[in-house]
Amino acid sequence: MEHVIQAVYFIAALLFILGLRKMSSPKTARNGILWAGGAMGMAVVVTFFTPGLHNIGLIFIAIVVGGGAAWVSAKKVEMTNMPQMVAIYNGLGGGAAAAIAAVELFRGELLNGVSSSGVLVLLAVVGGLIGSIAFSGSCVAFAKLQRLISERPMTFSNQQTVNLVMLAIAVIAGFVLLFTDAPAMIVIFFAAALAFGVMMTLPIGGADMPVVISLYNALTGMAVAFEGFALGNAAMIVAGTVVGAAGTLLTQLMAKAMNRPLSNVLFGAFGAEQEGEEGDVAGSLKEIEPNDAAIMMGYANRVIIVTGYGMAMAQAQHKVYELAKQLEENNVEVKFAIHPVAGRMPGHMNVLLAEAGVPYDKLFDLEEINDEFQSTDVTLVIGANDVVNPAARNNAASPIYGMPILNVDYSGNVLVIKRGRGKGFAGIENELFYADNTRMLYGDAQSMVNELVQSVKQL
Ligand code: TAP
Repeated sequence: MEHVIQAVYFIAALLFILGLRKMSSPKTARNGILWAGGAMGMAVVVTFFTPGLHNIGLIFIAIVVGGGAAWVSAKKVEMTNMPQMVAIYNGLGGGAAAAIAAVELFRGELLNGVSSSGVLVLLAVVGGLIGSIAFSGSCVAFAKLQRLISERPMTFSNQQTVNLVMLAIAVIAGFVLLFTDAPAMIVIFFAAALAFGVMMTLPIGGADMPVVISLYNALTGMAVAFEGFALGNAAMIVAGTVVGAAGTLLTQLMAKAMNRPLSNVLFGAFGAEQEGEEGDVAGSLKEIEPNDAAIMMGYANRVIIVTGYGMAMAQAQHKVYELAKQLEENNVEVKFAIHPVAGRMPGHMNVLLAEAGVPYDKLFDLEEINDEFQSTDVTLVIGANDVVNPAARNNAASPIYGMPILNVDYSGNVLVIKRGRGKGFAGIENELFYADNTRMLYGDAQSMVNELVQSVKQL
């Protein structure tokens, strides 16, 4: 039976990798999730056949309670609340890895059993440390994004020193656990690791939260892999390593797209808002009637549509696609430009536009489309702000200076849909809205796009 179980774990591990591979493209992502989920189901079921498995009733209850809660909350969650859901689910993964480490350390068998090399204890301790940090850190990230506590960075004097001391206590206690299984030391170890996760996340502001969640995701993966080694479980080793690697890559990509060096995220000062003189914005805001905007787009050769958080808030994606189709009927070439951190979570715009039925080959990433704005007649910006702010290119004092942006301001004409003078996530003014070639369409994204659809139909 042991061989059969290991063989099934191995197949599950292969399916995780294939599933992840499929998740790299929006076309196959849904399938990839099913494959990986099926693999996880397989691994869970076969675990019940482990010889000598105790507490089967309790395990079953835990699966029903956890699985039920996840099913209900995932069905109910609003798209805009997805980041905090990812944070808490991912954190629970880290917590589960830490719990495995705690059980193994309290049992004391790792220390006494395996040729007393201490290697397995070391693996359990490292996994426990990382998993605890990912768990408590993710809980704080969830609380911030859910506005249970303030999203603003919470700082106090000597914070970095306190954090370092906390980490040092956890590391030293973990080291001592290589030689003793004293319960008090295990408690100190986990308490310090959990406290460090909390302290590390409190000073981080909302803007950096996605990077941090992704970092904790990577840590959770690593913790699971370490615990997999400690338990000799192939599925955990492979799944954990894959998640750890994917999370690390995503963290790097997001840090780059949000203009925050990873070193800054990792080693202090992170999340505290960058201070900077924004400088005055010249020009005035010029409004345009939807009819005139429709004429501008309807007779253009090419229109690029840039969507952002405002489109998600207004749930305007279906109307946006209707507008694109209407323009195409008027022989206008329409493309969608996607900024990697538009909205509030990775892939936010891809998911919404795909949900509305926009074909994938009409969605273009920043690098693919940025050179095309120059030769574009009209760019329509729908509820996007920071990701099209030229200050990122032009103003060294701006907090978003250096962040890659969509070069919308290079196009012939720019139309911007937003409700009023609301700022974007970074809380700064946007000179694009004041530019000579920009016209503002004030209103909720969904109703304004609807007006545009009706007007283009009349052309
Ligand atoms: P933002 O810069 O946040 O701007 C959104 C704009 O949408 C606002 O200026 C707002 O102006 C407008 N808006 C809001 N509700 C609207 C509605 N119902 N109808 C029409 N317009 C509406 O959005 P963005 O350009 O997508 O940039 C994303 C920002 O979030 C970046 O700074 C990014 O770093 C940050 N961030 C990203 C992520 C990820 S991973 N995607 C996660 C967290 C944070 P009005 O109030 O005037 O309407």
